[in-house]
Amino acid sequence: MALLKRPYEGKTLAILTGGGDTAALNASIEGIKSRASALGFRVYGIRRGWKGLLGDGDVVDLTNQPYDGVYGGTALKSSRTNPFSGSDPSRIEQIIKNLKRYGIDVLVTIGGDDTNGAAKRLYEMEGIPVIGFPKTIDNDLKTKTIHNYNGELIEAVLCPGFPSAAKGVAEFVTRLATTAESHSRIMVIEIMGRDAGWLTGAAVMGGAQICLIPEFPITKERKQAFFEKVKEVYYKSKKQYLLLAVAEGVRWYDEKTGKVDVVYASSEVDEYGHPRFGGVSGVIASEITKATGIDARAQNLGYLARSGDCRNYDRRLVSALADKVVDLMIREDYGKMPVLSKLSTYQELEVYNTDTLDMGNIGNQSLPEIYYDPEDFQFNERYVDFLSYFIDKPKQIRFDHNFPKVKPLF
Ligand code: F6P
Repeated sequence: MALLKRPYEGKTLAILTGGGDTAALNASIEGIKSRASALGFRVYGIRRGWKGLLGDGDVVDLTNQPYDGVYGGTALKSSRTNPFSGSDPSRIEQIIKNLKRYGIDVLVTIGGDDTNGAAKRLYEMEGIPVIGFPKTIDNDLKTKTIHNYNGELIEAVLCPGFPSAAKGVAEFVTRLATTAESHSRIMVIEIMGRDAGWLTGAAVMGGAQICLIPEFPITKERKQAFFEKVKEVYYKSKKQYLLLAVAEGVRWYDEKTGKVDVVYASSEVDEYGHPRFGGVSGVIASEITKATGIDARAQNLGYLARSGDCRNYDRRLVSALADKVVDLMIREDYGKMPVLSKLSTYQELEVYNTDTLDMGNIGNQSLPEIYYDPEDFQFNERYVDFLSYFIDKPKQIRFDHNFPKVKPLF
């Protein structure tokens, strides 16, 4: 019996990863690659994001190559190269030329708003067959994922990479309890998230009692209330310590300048115009000590949040989304991005809980206000419910003691 020709025999699909890496990128590449191969595609990888389509191009053949989807980061490497950067108007021509030179028929762009926004423009302006694929630890790329909280339907976001990062944040924060407790200190823990507090909220699962996020700036008026809250929570805590999580992008009132602003790590901006943030935890820790007299220290989790292996939830999430990519490829339905339509437990992560978003509709989405109580400077039970779909509360390291005090002999 003659074997049937597979539908995409002889066609080539290429994958690229752009923007900040996440632990789920290799898992996404593996998921898309294995499904595309089964359809008959030859599968290429473009190295260093859009940069790999400039100049002579930098393209590798992934077909029939073993691929490790547990190892975090991206074996294709990443960059923040912007095809539409004003500094070089010939980039679009170079990209189109290289897609032809390498015989690429379909392009899958794994990225956040920047990478997929550029892909969308290439699809709309040049008709390049593109399928977007979401990723970001900041979780701020709109996915229209509905979170059903006791019948209340909340439009949330769930991007691959975020569940792994969130789990890591919860674990790191849990660990910090022992040192904070030993010194009766406040630990101010800085967590990535330029414009959105989704990831900072994961610190709650590690025991953070107060959280500051970009969506709710600490203005001159709110600063005093914040210090009062810090004192209240600290002195009420049984063991007199406090874990306080702050997003790197929290807007903080600076007495010297009289402005509410972020703390910049450098004056550089990337090709998409994003500055680098970092250091707000140090500023907040020293101001807390000054205002309350309580010893405070800063700890920047920085890149730890996005490092390490892909966690189980993310692996299954990207599998379900990769199944949806197959759907799009079969129907030659381009300019779309698969998303999780309903917030799902690990067991429910199946293609029937996914949908597609027109790439024209993608964009940034910060944390819905409904998840945070600004008066308490803290996330509420709705957000804890959201997180509980993919993180268990890490085991609190606890050593409860009540040693009897010894009276001196005389
Ligand atoms: O991709 C998002 C992100 O991880 C942000 O949370 C962070 O501000 C930024 O990337 C850091 O970027 P870079 O890797 O360029 O330093």
